[in-house]
Amino acid sequence: MDMDLRKALYERRAVREYADRAVDHQVIDRLIAAAAGPWCIEDCALAAQNLMLAACGEGLGSCWIGFAQAYLNTPAGKALLRLPPACVPVAPLIVGFGKGPVQSVPRNKPDVTWLG
Ligand SMILES: Cc1cc2nc3c(=O)[nH]c(=O)nc-3n(C[C@H](O)[C@H](O)[C@H](O)COP(=O)(O)O)c2cc1C
Repeated sequence: MDMDLRKALYERRAVREYADRAVDHQVIDRLIAAAAGPWCIEDCALAAQNLMLAACGEGLGSCWIGFAQAYLNTPAGKALLRLPPACVPVAPLIVGFGKGPVQSVPRNKPDVTWLG
């Protein structure tokens, strides 16, 4: 996963089309290690970003699928992922080999107020 952090920050993009190719479990373990911790709800967003940057470093695409969150919080969604009933899914992520290059989303110009 040796990728310059700045490169990962600038090059990671939401990937929504994937090749039909499995990711090794060892690689997935590395991604989870980059994100794992005793997270509170808010920290889950940081963990998700760490995992997505780590995926980028592994040459993988990823995307946060907030659309899935409501379903994953239902008993049926939890059963599908074999999650314990008390578990609260916060950051559903997909990871895989992207089908091709992805266009970056235009960014707003930063609005910075210097206080000193
Ligand atoms: C809370 C949250 C929920 C998101 N939900 C979805 C989603 O349901 N479907 C999707 O395609 N992308 C989803 N995204 C990905 C964003 O659309 C994407 O990160 C954004 O377009 C910026 O693009 P970038 O990640 O390439 O910089 C979500 C992102 C966040 C932070």
